[in-house]
Amino acid sequence: MQTLAGKKILLGISGGIAAYKCAELTRRLIERGAEVRVVMTTAAKEFITPLTMQAVSGHPVSDSLLDPAAEASMGHIELAKWADLVLLAPASADLIARMAAGMGNDLLTTLVLATDAQVVVSPAMNQQMYRNLATQDNIATLTQRGMQIWGPGAGQQACGDVGPGRMLEPMDLVQRCEGYFGPKPLRGKRVLLTAGPTREALDPVRYITNHSSGKMGFAIADAAAKLGAEVTLVSGPVHLTTPANVSRINVSSAVDMHAEVMNQASAHDIFIGCAAVADYRPQQVAAQKMKKTDDSDTLTITMVKNPDIVASVAAMAQNRPFTVGFAAETEDVEQYARGKLVKKNLDMICANDVSVAGQGFNSNDNALTVYFAGDATRPEGKQLLPLASKAELAHALMLLINDKIS
Ligand code: C5P
Repeated sequence: MQTLAGKKILLGISGGIAAYKCAELTRRLIERGAEVRVVMTTAAKEFITPLTMQAVSGHPVSDSLLDPAAEASMGHIELAKWADLVLLAPASADLIARMAAGMGNDLLTTLVLATDAQVVVSPAMNQQMYRNLATQDNIATLTQRGMQIWGPGAGQQACGDVGPGRMLEPMDLVQRCEGYFGPKPLRGKRVLLTAGPTREALDPVRYITNHSSGKMGFAIADAAAKLGAEVTLVSGPVHLTTPANVSRINVSSAVDMHAEVMNQASAHDIFIGCAAVADYRPQQVAAQKMKKTDDSDTLTITMVKNPDIVASVAAMAQNRPFTVGFAAETEDVEQYARGKLVKKNLDMICANDVSVAGQGFNSNDNALTVYFAGDATRPEGKQLLPLASKAELAHALMLLINDKIS
């Protein structure tokens, strides 16, 4: 689909091993209808040739500020004005530092100073360089100035290290561009959501938790932000990168999550309880590490009920947001989901059958059946969102919620 038809993207490549992915990135952007012009720093040309980038973009690559021929065809100010979006990928620590200092000592940094288009920075560097306070300060400076920071991802790095600093994958960047240019039906709406598991402490070193990966909740946060909403994500402990334009608050236990959500809820229009909240917590949290005893082979732990977060939001007397819950079921899905919709006084509940392999917990795909109070258009109050990636499903769910609140 030509989701980026007519969009003019200036791709700025700096010197990092991830630059080899820029050929693929450019092809995928063009496939979706975008026009791509490429600017490279001197170091970038050590990692991928201008000839490759010219071949995939269909235009000569610009790399010099002082080249009369290039200035005569499309001068640097013209190029800066041409762009609808300036995407810097990979953005090296050096490029980020030069931009933070406001320098214009090569074509790319000059363009960044001269453009009024949105500048997006996709950092890529060694994890230690990324964690360095100088880099972190520079990124904070760029954010304050209105640049968007996409990534980095974490994982195995070209240098052998493991950690944050990987450039986002080309398709991830493409999807973010689609989100940036896509329609914004949720503009002006504030969405609060919970995601991930909770941890219920037994003692200073042990806890009870569950297998929730947080992927569905993070995908919903991402979809809501892409559709223009202001998003607050209250997350239990997960290994996921915060989606672009989402403010994240980290919590650990159900009690902490409940307190944070109740603190935030009245300032939001929509609440989505996506977290796998522990129903119970140990009554006593031992102050010191619990010891094995010789006199018994069993251990009894008394558990007490946790507050039901989604039900607490749904019970708010004032400024109650439109409240959406999730129900992971292994049998009689419709009956249990509808039961929870009524019992917790929700506006909508998204049910997934977790007994089906390849969907739900920890998977990248999911299918949902959404139940809500019926109306004239859908008297049965039910909508099936068939098996799809969690990103696609989250997008469809946010559109459905938007449909119900408008
Ligand atoms: O009752 P059950 O745990 O199956 O309900 C699931 C829904 O309730 C989910 O939306 C989940 O986030 C929410 N929930 C909650 N607080 C709890 C337990 C569940 O918000 N203590």
